[in-house]
Amino acid sequence: MSQVMGTSVSRKDGRAKVMGTATYAAEHQIPGLVYGYLVTSAIANGSIKVIDTSEAEQSPGVLAVFTHQNAPKICPPTNDFMNSKIYEARLPLADNRIHYGGQNIGLVVADTFERAREAAHLVKVDYDVQPPVVDKDRATYQEAPPFFGESMTFEKSSSSSGDVDTALSKADIKIEAIYTTSMEHHAPMEPHGIIAHWQTPDSVTIYEPTQWVFGSQRTYGELLGLSAEQVHIVTPYIGGAFGCKAFPWPHAILCAAAAKEVQRPFKVVVSRRQMTANTGHRSATEQVIRLGASRDGKLTAISHEVKSATSPVDIFTEPCTSVTPVIYATPNLRLQQDLAVMNVGTPTFMRAPGDNPGMWALESAMDELASALQLDPVELRLRNETQAHQRRGLPFSAKHFADCLKVGAERFGWQARPLKSRSLTREGLLVGWGMAAATFPGLRSRASVKVRLLSDGTAHILTAGNDMGTGAYTVVAVTAAEILGLPVEKIRVEMGDSNLPDGGMAGGSQMTTTLAPAVMAACQAVLKTAEVSTAQQAFEKLHQLQHNAFEATATTAPGQEGKQFAFQSWGAHFCEVTVDEEIGRLQVTRWLSVMNVGRVVNAKTAASQVRGGVIMGISQALMETGHLDPNSGYPVVSDLTTYHIAAHADIPRIDVTFVGEPDLNFNPLGARGLGEIGIVGVAAAIANALYHATGKRLRELPITPDKLIV
Ligand code: MOS
Repeated sequence: MSQVMGTSVSRKDGRAKVMGTATYAAEHQIPGLVYGYLVTSAIANGSIKVIDTSEAEQSPGVLAVFTHQNAPKICPPTNDFMNSKIYEARLPLADNRIHYGGQNIGLVVADTFERAREAAHLVKVDYDVQPPVVDKDRATYQEAPPFFGESMTFEKSSSSSGDVDTALSKADIKIEAIYTTSMEHHAPMEPHGIIAHWQTPDSVTIYEPTQWVFGSQRTYGELLGLSAEQVHIVTPYIGGAFGCKAFPWPHAILCAAAAKEVQRPFKVVVSRRQMTANTGHRSATEQVIRLGASRDGKLTAISHEVKSATSPVDIFTEPCTSVTPVIYATPNLRLQQDLAVMNVGTPTFMRAPGDNPGMWALESAMDELASALQLDPVELRLRNETQAHQRRGLPFSAKHFADCLKVGAERFGWQARPLKSRSLTREGLLVGWGMAAATFPGLRSRASVKVRLLSDGTAHILTAGNDMGTGAYTVVAVTAAEILGLPVEKIRVEMGDSNLPDGGMAGGSQMTTTLAPAVMAACQAVLKTAEVSTAQQAFEKLHQLQHNAFEATATTAPGQEGKQFAFQSWGAHFCEVTVDEEIGRLQVTRWLSVMNVGRVVNAKTAASQVRGGVIMGISQALMETGHLDPNSGYPVVSDLTTYHIAAHADIPRIDVTFVGEPDLNFNPLGARGLGEIGIVGVAAAIANALYHATGKRLRELPITPDKLIV
């Protein structure tokens, strides 16, 4: 390996984004474009008695108004997570039923955006109103019936090993507590939007931010009665996704189908307020944790019971218990996930789904246990480390969790931390130090990459895998530069288009682990094709032969390694907070994250990904909360003014350190995922620091000032 891998390389796409030349989906300029505006339900449960579109249809510039009475033709897709997938199993405008506030009930098409919006407000609806269930305490916890076809990946589940109840009753120390998280919104900078352009009755181009180019291509093909090849997906840039842009939402399905009927290129952008209701969120959770431990700080039992909510029209379970068998050893383990059906839009994946709220609860409880034992929280975690996945019985590969804890403690100066709460003060404020562990599964999929060595002395790397803002363009370039022996500047990367080879999904922290092995293989293949060992030699040969290019494509996929090892990334967060109890003000003043992610491909974007996760975690811990009106069921937090997210002033300097070696059992590059692990454990580290500062244990997120005032 040469000079580039592991150094700090600036983003390949940075200049285009700063200059405004990076074109996002809704910004594509297409002659003859017409505009849509969604009509959404003002009630959360019931049905439409009468929907009167006559005034809207007469409004200037209006071309069409779609409702359930004249819905465009949409075919039910397979809706299988491995092939094609839609977020919400009920097809848009399927009937007159209303399942949640903000559900799409109509779509106006007009020659300008403003005229479409004006007409949308002229649609009159007479509802049969039923009381909505939007309070999880009033919802019934039961197995939700799948709306149709395959249900979402995570369902209600329960499992148990050993004898948890006996172990808990016999434990020297027992912790039992309920931890809650709020409904959270992804709130990406780029709103949801789509342009559908039918070139012929049998071919359509779709400009939409999607984390899964080939999945989208197949899904739209099924929805629109086309073959996958008849659908062209264009998504070179995504302005934030975090899980909410992996599959088509109802508005997008509607846009693509309606575009065919109006026979014009057609754009629908969802307003920030509408997005809050109908493009996913992270469900609120309620988690009961019971820990049993011996006097010497060894866990004897863990019980983790979770309730989350889903919509009446699809199943999504926030999988909080997936992390529990991974992080600590225990002979007695009980996991349970329950699901409530509420009149709320369908929840979905949001950065570290399950792992994030799950570790909030577990790492808070571990801190409570450390206090009860009068044991240092880092030491408690070291004593309970597990070398094997407790459910699957497989050893972890290249695990350096203990190093994360030890290096973190060392660099943070943790040994100076007094065990007792309310021991530290500074300038009239209480000071606390807290920590929490982090982990996230190492995932990887199949990918294909094409590489061209061009006679102008550049290399061109092509794949449909994409960059949702994570740094994938740069990671691909760095990997190619390394194999080809070229400077990064000589590498051109093209991504996010279904005309390119299938590059897998940008989700589950797996774009680097999926793409980089294929980039390596394709670069090695092109050198072999040219019968040279460096790109420079290939360029010289191109001149001699008067050829334009050497080209090769490679496909790589996981093998049998998953049967031998469990793969996880690991980390530890250390933080300092100050608290002013008089005004209920908590500030995070210092942060250190130590991560073990296998090989670091690009130090700059890797640290950046972890920082992004920490920032999102601080935001979750202190601010983020979605509310549903208890009477109407409509989201009352509806824009970036009312949905509070962290700003620069809320965020301290964030130090990020990596430990460990490449995980070569996982893939030939040795990289594991790092896009999501940064957020895992952050909220617990803050609550634990708050406890250290004040002696007050908060178990409900977010930790807002009202909860801090004494
Ligand atoms: Mo993510 S929640 O895997 O986009």
